Amino acid sequence: MILKHLNLVNFKNLIEASVDLDSDVNCFSGLNGEGKTNILDAIRYLSMCKSYFNPADYQNINHEQDSFMIKGTVLKNDEIDVLSCSVSRTSKKIFKRNKKDYQRLSDHIGLYPSVMISPTDEDLIKEGSETRRKFINGIISQYDKSYLNHMVQYKRALNQRNRLLKHFQVERTFDEASLEIYDFKLIELIQQIHEVRLKFVEDFTPWFQKLHTQISGNKETVSLSYTSTCNENLAEQFTDSRHKDKLSARTNIGIHKDDLEFSIDGHTIKRFGSQGQQKTFLIALKLAQSFFIEQATGNKPFLLLDDIFDKLDSSRVANLMKLVSEGNFGQIFITDTDKNRVSSLFKDLNGTLAEFTLTQGRIS
Ligand SMILES: Nc1ncnc2c1ncn2[C@@H]1O[C@H](COP(=O)(O)OP(=O)(O)OP(=O)(O)O)[C@@H](O)[C@H]1O
Ligand SMILES: [Mg+2]
Repeated sequence: MILKHLNLVNFKNLIEASVDLDSDVNCFSGLNGEGKTNILDAIRYLSMCKSYFNPADYQNINHEQDSFMIKGTVLKNDEIDVLSCSVSRTSKKIFKRNKKDYQRLSDHIGLYPSVMISPTDEDLIKEGSETRRKFINGIISQYDKSYLNHMVQYKRALNQRNRLLKHFQVERTFDEASLEIYDFKLIELIQQIHEVRLKFVEDFTPWFQKLHTQISGNKETVSLSYTSTCNENLAEQFTDSRHKDKLSARTNIGIHKDDLEFSIDGHTIKRFGSQGQQKTFLIALKLAQSFFIEQATGNKPFLLLDDIFDKLDSSRVANLMKLVSEGNFGQIFITDTDKNRVSSLFKDLNGTLAEFTLTQGRIS
């Protein structure tokens, strides 16, 4: 899967851009604020129908304009596909593949996968468990549509149960039988979702650890462990938690409380990992994600590497560049403020490199 050409109009600070891309590595350099990350985000739009950074589509339209357009030509399975996304301030987003609109944007997800590695990923380590559940959900739902469906049903049933608990609290009443209807539904879904997540972490961990070893030069041991409030006796757990649920007007048992714990040499990385170790951890997670998506979809995702070198020492940078240039990953898009760094790193490595310079939203 190769993005051959990218065309942008009024996307953030990129007023007009048209670039032919290399099938191996593309590097976008320029000073701060020139539009490097915006290029990667435009590619992300073509892959996932939305921005990696800003979920409000209209805010990605150039401040002075009324609409933006992103168009990409992709070579996939020996065929050329044209993808386009346009957003205007007055109508809803239009996403097309080979000139045909999608009925549902979710049908597009997974067809042209991408993995972004960006400084904002540190939220995965620093923020609460929801970000890590989103990470897991994001990967699994790219290859398991029934998982996505179960998650939607779970969220709906959980909201309904919580609303009922709130209603009991406000009305100073309680009806166990009506609550139990939701318990049955949730228990059934928890079992299905829990099993898929556990299998995912089991399969994902060796990929992650192998990549981490390659980047860190085998300097530290990392692990992932999946934690859950749920055990095999879910019905009993729901009964035991009823009093607490009633008092808090919330559901205290369920997969909405699950977490993925990250550790380095046996200690939690959030507290004990250095900045470079945390960055290495995140990069290994994302590269493993790329392998995993490829296994599941048969396509090597576009690898979008934003400010990847920040905080890494020179040996990790060299290990990382060697790793991604060995042909095990998809087409690569890198941003860097240093114009010469990527080209000097790639001098002795495999593959071809195209270099672009950004100046005030213009590409040369
Ligand atoms: N809707 C918008 N309209 C106009 N400009 C925007 C819009 N959204 C963002 N920008 C601007 O786009 C510019 C480029 O942003 P971008 O994040 O791509 O910079 P960058 O080259 O990656 O910089 P850095 O090296 O600091 O990461 C910024 O000045 C930002 O304010
Ligand atoms: Mg940037």
